[in-house]
Amino acid sequence: MTICVCGSINADRILHIDQVPTVGATVAAKNLTVGPGGKGANQAVAAARAGAPVAFIGQHGDDEAGDLLRHAIMAEGIDCRGLRQVTGPSGQAMILLQDDGDNAIVVHGGANTTWTGLDPEQAAIIAGSRALLLQREIPLNIITQAATIAREAGVPVILDAGGSLTPVATDLLALVDLFSPNRSELAACLDRELPDDEDDLIEQATEWCDSVANATGRMPDLLLKNGAAGSCYIHRDAAGHFERIHRQPALKVPVRDTTGAGDCFTATYLVARTIEGLPIDDAMRFASAAAALCIGRDGALPSMPHRADIDALL
Ligand code: RIB
Repeated sequence: MTICVCGSINADRILHIDQVPTVGATVAAKNLTVGPGGKGANQAVAAARAGAPVAFIGQHGDDEAGDLLRHAIMAEGIDCRGLRQVTGPSGQAMILLQDDGDNAIVVHGGANTTWTGLDPEQAAIIAGSRALLLQREIPLNIITQAATIAREAGVPVILDAGGSLTPVATDLLALVDLFSPNRSELAACLDRELPDDEDDLIEQATEWCDSVANATGRMPDLLLKNGAAGSCYIHRDAAGHFERIHRQPALKVPVRDTTGAGDCFTATYLVARTIEGLPIDDAMRFASAAAALCIGRDGALPSMPHRADIDALL
């Protein structure tokens, strides 16, 4: 059974610069490259290269970029029966990539944002999958529809918070089994700046999980990606409180390009945990190795590591 990824697919235009400019400044890019990306497509490819059977549900436009994107994802052996071509431009991301590997991204959603609903074939792919992986670069009604279909079919739902810096609606969280934000996305959910100290950060995240669970009766486990500080997993203890913590330090590796590293982490964690049934700690270690390889390479989708490389690093 496949991991079904439902989400965005973009043409990434990567501008290599010294530093992201301040407001009002003009800077010259040293290089411009174009390649496939988008949080959904990145996660589909990361999962496929890690060894899982994958189906991708998404939309691209009827432009030249659309052809490039479809070929990029089909070349990975991913089931593309749920990938639609629609009239209009494909999604595009302008990625300002600094010398230190950090970035700032502006996305024009294009075809990713013109979905009106999932069709019966797409719904059947979701309902027949082993797990559903979502992000937030497509319309909220599609995310909610996909999660609802999965939930009714007993398919676990994983929501990566990437793609929006707005708080996640609690009624969407109620459909989700695992929620995975990065630091900025968690700050948006908590509506406050987060502390640097990891223990304080985990305490605040845990309180938020408890408060959502108390308000809605249901809160997913939380897998926090905290960049170079590593990752942590928060889930319920026997008494029903969000307490038990797994921590995974990030591997120290040279950084070329952090674009897509969060996508890589969530997707490869899911492969290790859901498809291979590894314990949480081992799945986090696997994802951490995959993300370390991703940040050592250029680009988003092309930088997703293959299984043999992940195994070699572990
Ligand atoms: O997470 C990285 C991705 O964000 C890029 O590939 C870009 O397309 C944007 O969606």
